Amino acid sequence: MRVIVCENYEQLSKEGAKLFASQMILKPNSVLGLATGSTPVGLYKHLIEMNKAGEIDFSDITSFNLDEYYPLSPENDQSYRYFMNENLFNFVNIDKARTFVPNGLSENPEEEGKNYDELIEKAGGVDIQLLGIGQNGHIGFNEPDVNLITGTHLTDLTENTIQANSRFFNSIDEVPTKAITMGMASIMKAKKIVLLASGANKKAVVSELLNDHITTNVPATLLKLHPDVVLICDKEAYGA
Ligand code: GLP
Repeated sequence: MRVIVCENYEQLSKEGAKLFASQMILKPNSVLGLATGSTPVGLYKHLIEMNKAGEIDFSDITSFNLDEYYPLSPENDQSYRYFMNENLFNFVNIDKARTFVPNGLSENPEEEGKNYDELIEKAGGVDIQLLGIGQNGHIGFNEPDVNLITGTHLTDLTENTIQANSRFFNSIDEVPTKAITMGMASIMKAKKIVLLASGANKKAVVSELLNDHITTNVPATLLKLHPDVVLICDKEAYGA
């Protein structure tokens, strides 16, 4: 795992955006793996600016998002589909028909998961996967557990995650308790992975990434098995 320590959130966002822009320039029909949460917002802003300036082109890009709350309609302003439209897709020249987010209203989540993994494979696999990290070490919504699941699946959210994500909702009771998430193998199949971590509240979990242990109690530590991961963190998350 390569580690880039940035002065602050702004620099982290720029560094991350540079990697995505380079990928898109080298391969205009790239498949991007995208993430939600507050951390990637700055990176998306930079991609929007670069697209407006004519430096990068989304017209041949396909994207797959990591996860979606369940059950939740894509029109709901708390859904990750809504988030992606508002933070990226509405402002760049991407074909929305080629932007995929798990269906939070699927009547058969098991089949939804299977189809989602098949779609990714048919698209040629993810070229570059963006990840944030939960304070408990989750990636996507792969929560700490004895067993982790390989493919895209329906999962229960832990109390810790419900608590952490309640800041985006009017009250904690409104936070969905389940989600459909890409599984650990779905994520690990990406050719390149860019993991972002910002702020002092990520310091403890980032320290788990910097040692040489792997544990399903901190799912992100499994990324140490991937040959091409870049961790971009700010000084606060790094603990410098
Ligand atoms: C959610 C998402 C994760 C994300 C995490 C961290 O739980 N499912 O993909 O990494 O939030 O969010 P933030 O970047 O706001 O700390």
